[in-house]
Amino acid sequence: MPTANVASPAVLPPANALAAVVHPNPYPYYQSLASQRPFDFDVSLGMWVAAGPQALAAVLRHPACGVRPVGARVPAALANGAAGDWFGALVRMNDGSAHAAMKPWIKARLATLHADGATLARLHDASQAACADAYLACGDSPTARLDDFVFRQPIYALAAWLGVAPPQWADVFDDVRKLVAAMAESAKPSPRADVLARGHSAASTLRARAMRWLDNDAVSGTWLHDTARSAARDDAIDYSVLTANVVGLFTQAHDACAGLVANSLRRLSQHEQHEQHEQHKQHAQHEQYGEAERNALPTPRPLATGRAMLPANLAVAISAVNEVIRHDPPIQNTRRFLHAPAVIGERTLARGDAILVVLAATPAATPAGASPDDVAWTFGHGAHACPGRSPASTIAALGVQAILDSGVEFSCVTHGTAYHPLGNVRIARFQGDAATS
Ligand code: HEM
Repeated sequence: MPTANVASPAVLPPANALAAVVHPNPYPYYQSLASQRPFDFDVSLGMWVAAGPQALAAVLRHPACGVRPVGARVPAALANGAAGDWFGALVRMNDGSAHAAMKPWIKARLATLHADGATLARLHDASQAACADAYLACGDSPTARLDDFVFRQPIYALAAWLGVAPPQWADVFDDVRKLVAAMAESAKPSPRADVLARGHSAASTLRARAMRWLDNDAVSGTWLHDTARSAARDDAIDYSVLTANVVGLFTQAHDACAGLVANSLRRLSQHEQHEQHEQHKQHAQHEQYGEAERNALPTPRPLATGRAMLPANLAVAISAVNEVIRHDPPIQNTRRFLHAPAVIGERTLARGDAILVVLAATPAATPAGASPDDVAWTFGHGAHACPGRSPASTIAALGVQAILDSGVEFSCVTHGTAYHPLGNVRIARFQGDAATS
């Protein structure tokens, strides 16, 4: 079971599994949900909630459970536009033959991304560029810059890794943001027309870019170049679907990697705060005793200020990201929709029922029978499991390292408990947060 955050104020438990995503410490609630109501109907949400590991595995592997509601492959608000066309071609949003045609291919292509020395150097440069552009976009406020950086850096780093030329990174980021915003907007009861319009325009621009990258723009030896050659040799690959899914890699990375970076930074700052607290205690103890007793006490280490406690290296960043994957994961939920009546976990579900699959409620180490692998549930499970786990973890670690190396004063994020107001993704939010702690 994921453990509680280091600093967890005494607040009421979340009202339900959706409210848990932005709660300061949802993990005790998740634990009781998984043990007491592993698979049940939540009247307040109007959907089933799967929280126990067996229920999760059963839902995510059940052939009657689709990724989109019956008859709504594309959200109505996005239909009849470029964003809707793009959405409808994504592996993430399709089941059956459309999914089966593309998923293994994308998975195989992503598996060719290796984090060798040259790659790490490129990702480092991209992360530095994201730092500089976050500064340009947000000015002096360290919290505003961090909030910008955690979304920007993964897009720059992924672009660099795939072989997109640096002058395009900022524009790609702007368009990915608009497209992700339009997707989120389309799920609201009254979506704003201007947000949707910007999403359609961003989808057109990004797909045209992806086409150019694959046609002739990509430098020889890059992932994009090799992907284009591989697609040209494979008659089964639909070029238009391919460009949509290349864009889809960026939208998949946007929120999920931001959560990895932001939650890792928060976790590191909380550890630092904890360490400082312990050292203050040691100093206070030291002052209370006479000389003989003082000599018998451990010598206090110098008090750390700012980031001085944190070894500014990649190893620290990698271990923080790994901890977050297990203990404070970004993707907390996903959803499934019944395309046919089914009995799952001894419960009878009707066609059209919706299920909230609470990935964050399950332990990192899976129980026997659920899965043979070292599954980190935040990356999903079954047919739609994330094919980007390895590159995403590397990208996030480089992002965290860039901040550790940058000299940002960590105390500005230490006390925070705020999260971006999202339904499925837990992303620490720094700006305006100090006052809420
Ligand atoms: C470089 C960054 C990433 C890329 C390129 C990427 C790519 C993808 C793709 C293509 C899919 C669709 C797979 C399918 O439907 O068959 C997917 C699904 C998924 N990804 Fe990732 N991803 C990235 C980062 C992350 C991160 C950081 C997380 C969580 C920590 C994550 C969690 C998930 C989950 C949970 C799903 C499945 C959702 C479901 O089953 O409903 N991804 N990802």
